Amino acid sequence: ASSTSGAANQKWQKVGTVADLDKTGQLLLADSPVGAVLVVGTSKAAKDLSAVNPTCTHKGCTVAWKTKKNLFVCPCHDAEFARDGKVQEGPAEKPLKTYIAKIESDSVFVKI
Ligand code: FES
Repeated sequence: ASSTSGAANQKWQKVGTVADLDKTGQLLLADSPVGAVLVVGTSKAAKDLSAVNPTCTHKGCTVAWKTKKNLFVCPCHDAEFARDGKVQEGPAEKPLKTYIAKIESDSVFVKI
């Protein structure tokens, strides 16, 4: 497979099962080499899976996924981020870090 620069030592890491993702619409990998990774979505729309580092880029609180709003919301100062990590509402100015997610058989993976 070809790889772009910087991606050479990235690996697919298992986050959890598809069954658990579909139950709540989100899966958290609390402890990975890049810190926490939060995957949101369902297997019914596998192409729309999103994976972010849920650490708010404002002051480091942990953002929560709000399915109804389709946004990540920070509990500390109400910053809001879209599924692709982009800031929708301040005070945060930088996007959340994002990762590629995929489903393979009955497991959910992120490339980190
Ligand atoms: Fe998230 Fe301030 S730490 S908005």
